[in-house]
Amino acid sequence: MKIRIDKAACVGNARCAAISQELFPLDDGGYIAVEVVEVPPGMEALARRGARACPERVITIVEDDDKKPE
Ligand code: F3S
Repeated sequence: MKIRIDKAACVGNARCAAISQELFPLDDGGYIAVEVVEVPPGMEALARRGARACPERVITIVEDDDKKPE
């Protein structure tokens, strides 16, 4: 799973970082610092929560194509 972030549309709400600073690091200005994050195993739920937490909806979850739904 990956997280994709439309960095240009971030307005610095920082709700994502409040969910996980590891997945959603902020830059010195308080904006999201990354555009694509590979989600480490076990952090998928945090990634989804972080994506939902952004009021601007700039965070998208990208599921792995090679994984078939069980
Ligand atoms: Fe930006 Fe949304 Fe996070 S506006 S700082 S990506 S909560």
